[in-house]
Parts: sequence; structure tokens; C-alpha cells
Amino acid sequence: MTEQSPGLSNLLTENRTFPPSAEFAAQANATAEWYERGDADREAFWAEQAERLTWDTKWSRVLDWSGAPFAKWFVGGKLNVAYNCVDRHVEAGHGDQVAIHWVGEPGDTRDITYAQLKDDVSRAANALLSLGVKAHDRVAIQLQMIPEAIVAMLACARIGALHSVVFGGFSPAALRSRVDDAAAKIVITSDGQFRRGKAAPMKANVDQALEGAESVEKVIVVRRTGEDVPMDPERDVWWHDLVDAQSPEHTPEAFDSEHPLFILYTSGTTGRPKGILHTSGGYLTQVAYTHHVVFDHKPGRDVYWCTADIGWVTGHSYIVYGPLANRVTQVVYEGTPNTPHEGRHWEIIQNYKVSIYYTAPTLIRTFMKWGDDIPAQYDLSSLRVLGSVGEPINPEAWIWYREHIGAGKAPVVDTWWQTETGAIMISPLPGVTATKPGSAQTPLPGISAIVVDDTGKEVPHGGGGYLVLDKPWPSMLRGIWGDDERFKETYWSRFADQGYYFAGDGAKYDDDGDIWLLGRVDDVMNVSGHRISTTEVESALVSHPTVAEAAVVGATDPTTGQGIVAFVILRGNAVDGGEEAVQELRNHVAKEIGPIAKPRQIMVVPELPKTRSGKIMRRLLRDVAENRQIGDVTTLADSSVMDLISAGLKSGK
Ligand code: WT7
Repeated sequence: MTEQSPGLSNLLTENRTFPPSAEFAAQANATAEWYERGDADREAFWAEQAERLTWDTKWSRVLDWSGAPFAKWFVGGKLNVAYNCVDRHVEAGHGDQVAIHWVGEPGDTRDITYAQLKDDVSRAANALLSLGVKAHDRVAIQLQMIPEAIVAMLACARIGALHSVVFGGFSPAALRSRVDDAAAKIVITSDGQFRRGKAAPMKANVDQALEGAESVEKVIVVRRTGEDVPMDPERDVWWHDLVDAQSPEHTPEAFDSEHPLFILYTSGTTGRPKGILHTSGGYLTQVAYTHHVVFDHKPGRDVYWCTADIGWVTGHSYIVYGPLANRVTQVVYEGTPNTPHEGRHWEIIQNYKVSIYYTAPTLIRTFMKWGDDIPAQYDLSSLRVLGSVGEPINPEAWIWYREHIGAGKAPVVDTWWQTETGAIMISPLPGVTATKPGSAQTPLPGISAIVVDDTGKEVPHGGGGYLVLDKPWPSMLRGIWGDDERFKETYWSRFADQGYYFAGDGAKYDDDGDIWLLGRVDDVMNVSGHRISTTEVESALVSHPTVAEAAVVGATDPTTGQGIVAFVILRGNAVDGGEEAVQELRNHVAKEIGPIAKPRQIMVVPELPKTRSGKIMRRLLRDVAENRQIGDVTTLADSSVMDLISAGLKSGK
């Protein structure tokens, strides 16, 4: 087992359990028997789950794994993803049900019914068609959490174009590299976004990003903040001019089950983000199934709220596709959790009687910091299921969540998955599982995940190692956009003999055989549930003229899970390495990648610890960053380097 964060060590001593109440169990969507059915005949189980969807043509075969690791699910089946998320609910008589209770940051609201959503998505689909967008084309979307973001994604799905959503907080350079990699034809953005009560520009960043971008033909701009933005008369068009003028009639075309649905970029161990590719039938089956059983969602009764941003996979799978396929009524909130006050989320839950709430540990820890008295001022009695995602949740935060938000009653489901897995893989089932604070526990019915040692052998109960997925699953990634080799190398080479998918996470079994996730085992950091690669931040740092060399580590952080700590060697004597220089470097990284990648701390050092083969020993730097006794230095090319670094830091140089 490789290095793991000592901040998680308290996970290993936690042993409380919370069995489900009889009342909850009696009405739960899933039962314990589902696990047996999933194990007994995996393909039959998934065939049954696929019946949640409306297929134009039924599949002839559940799984074709003959081209492994490239999977084909529901072979020969045809469906339209947007039809499944919208139209069929209207056809079934639920057109007046609210799909989205949208809450703007400044306090404006919009309720959108399924009938309205159908018209909006159809108009947007017609608009894209009018611009010449065809099936298989790529559309980049950089939008904040406004209804048009969801409409734009569904409009792409409806016409078979792939969306590539780029988080609004990413820099122009990051947007550009994603637009270029996917050769996006269209970019959809807004004039600006409200952030903590202020309007921040979006279109201006997009303009900067797209200078000279050859693939882009049109930029569609949603008006939100109303600020003046320059419009290129050839390239740019307002959403309200283009979309509002379209017909609300559009007949959805059925696409192959393996038709590509979207690309979503995520950080890997190298500097270049990977375009994770997802397809239609298998993906929609698993997001709908998991949303149904993990959140115990009851259409027409529950009010659901996932606080993620559509820029991340959680927003794709658990705001757009899974929930809408299941005819959800959901809250979508535009802003930050403390605008205009720290009770904003609880106020929204109270107002809309939210019953299912899905958020991230970093936010739960932030709420804890703001104080118990804040949620206590609101009526949260509507809440009946609480979800967590993004990083291991520490037992203290789990217990606080259950007590202070869930009134000691609502089951907490800690859901493990990844951009690559597309949907939840490991999670308790509410009403079925006796939950354990800090553990994601069991692969869902139909899913298999095991913990193995270095040689790929499963470890015994009580043992630790690497988490692998040993059987294909419907929503698995179908590749990395334009790079089959990297796909095989990244996920399938580590345990090639066994044919296991390597998740990049450390994990252990407890004595009951439940799985506890222990953080990444590669050079990927997890900051507030966002995946950031150490090499990406290092490249950003060395792109600054004053930096000769840089090494970046993720250090345990009480709020964000990990914080980015950088060690830099400056060039010659050009700069003094003082406070100002460090600030300049932090801002430089924020400008290059985005504010989420801004290092918490930068230490100027004379040398970096390297092995004889020149590999930076991040483990030792993490010891420094976390103020620990420095570990074994015997494999260093020059063992005095760590003394030099420590001495330099103590003297403040
Ligand atoms: C990585 C995936 C899945 C949507 C959000 C992040 C970590 C995620 C958990 C959890 C422990 C978790 C893993 C994983 N992670 N959920 N419940 N317990 N770790 O998606 O950006 O693709 O990151 O997030 O390290 O590999 P992502």
C-alpha cells in the first residue's frame, strides 16, 4: 500500500453503526434481496434496470465485452436521452409537475414545469440545428447554475451532439485547451455570473479564450447579469434572440445505445486533462437506477437538491440525467452558500420542503465551522435522506450532518464514484444498510468492487490496498477523447493480467468486509472535492518567468480535505522570494488554471528532494507541508536536501 493521508487515520478507529428504522425500511425503494439478484445474474439485473428507460428499439444483447476495455452495453438498442428526461413525463400526464425550482443568487426565482422544459429544450435543439450542429458535433458549455445550462445540455443530447461542460471557474487557458481538444464548433456561455452579490464577467473570459480558436463557429450568449459585453457580429449571438424565436416542436431522433453523450474533462497524473467519454443507454440506465435506490427517490413526492455544479460529473449525473430521467422535482441554486447569509441552504430547504439533500464533505465541514446555531434556526424536518460525495467524509462531519441536518434520523449515504465511473458505485442503501460514519461500505447491487494488493490479489478482511472495479458496469467511461492508448494505460495497465479497472484510490476492508476509502494513491489532489493534478499546478508554476522548478503536494486540510502546497526553486537571484513574489505566484496559478487551483501555501526552497532517477519524492514534501517528522530519506540522491529545506524554512528564507 502506498502513502496515505494521516488525516484520515481516524477513519480506521471508527466503529459506530446506525441501522435503518423499520419505518424507513418499510417504504424503501430497494431491499437487501437486490444484492443477491445483482450477484446471481448481473446481466439480467441490468437488463431489468434498463427497463426504467423508454427505448425506441430494444437491445438484443445486454453487454458486449469482447472488445475490452471498450464496453458496449444494451447492444442494438436505440433511445433518445432527452426524450427520456423530459418528453415522456409530459406524455404520461406530468407536464404540470415542476421539474426545476430555480433560485437565483440575488433572490429571483423561476419554477419550470416538465411541459415548459420540453418546449425550452426543443427550442434550444432547433436553435443548434439552425446553426448547422449535427449529431457527433461537440458543443462546449461554460455557464453558471442557471436553467439554460440544463436546457443546453439536454438540447445537445436531443440532437445527438456531445456537450463538453467546462466549469465556470476555469481560466480562459483551461477553457481553450478543452475547446481545442474536442474541436468544439459552438460555445455557449453567459454575459456574466453573480458571485457573492457581485457580477463577474464570463463572456469576456470566453472571448479571451477563443482568440484564434479555429474550430469555433458560433458563440451563444445567455443574458444574466445584464452587463455590457462586446458581441462579434459574425460569431456571437444572444440566446434570447436565437432560441426564443424557435419552434417549440422538435421530434427527437433515436440514437444508438452507444451513441456518445458527452465529454467531461478531468485531471489526471499528467498536466493534460483527460476528456472522459460517456455514451447513452448504459449511462442513463445506471444514473437513473442509482438515483432511484441510493436516494430512495419517489417521483411527485420528494423535493430533491444536489448542490453540485454542472461543471462536474455530479452535476451531469445527479442534477441533469439521473434525476430528470426519474421525473424529479428539484431545487437548482445559482449562488454560494453564504450569500447573503450563512443560512441560505437551510432557508431554501425550509421554503421548498427539500426531502433529499446531496452535498460534499468540504461544505459540511464549512457549515460546522459556521456553527450549529445556524441550521437550528430553520425547519429542516422535510429532510429524509442525506448524501455525501467527493472525498472521504470524516466521521465527525458525518455525525454532525446526521445530527444537525438530519435530526438524528435521516440516513446518510456516502457515495463513492468518479467522473470515469459515470454513476455511483459504492454506497449504503437507505432503509437497507446499517450505516457506518466514514465508510461508503458496499458496492451497489449489480456492481462489483474489490480491494487488492500490489499483485492484484484480493486482501483479507481488515486488510488495505487498492480499490479496483473487477467487472464492467453500464455507465463506465468508453474512453478518453482521442486517446485510446492513454485510456488503456491509465486505467487498465496496472492490473492488466486480471483485467481490473484501477480507480487510483486506496481503500481497506473492515472486519465486516465493508469498504473504507482512504484517498488517492496517485499524484492527484482532492481539494474541496475537486480533482486537481499536482503536475498541472507544477506546470503552471514553472510557466512563470521567476520559477526554475516546482513540486506540488496535497496536504491535509481541515476544511478542504487537501490544500495545495507548492515548493519552488526560483531562478538565479532574480527575485527575493518574499511575500510579494509568493502572492504573485499564487495569482499566476489561479490565472493559468482557475481560482480552485490557487496554492494554499508556497514555500521557496533551495533544492527539491529527488530519487536517483530524478523523480520528486512528494512523500517527504508532504511531511514538511503537514509539519511532521520527515520520513525515510534513504532513497534520495542527496540525503542532505531535506536538511537544507527544513533549515531554509525555519530561518524564513
Ligand atoms: C475521486 C473522483 C464522484 C463525483 C465527485 C468527484 C474521490 C469521490 C468519494 C467518497 C471517498 C471519494 C475519490 C475518487 N471520491 N467520492 N464518497 N469517498 N472518496 O469526482 O472529480 O472524478 O473525483 O474523488 O478519490 O477517485 P472526480
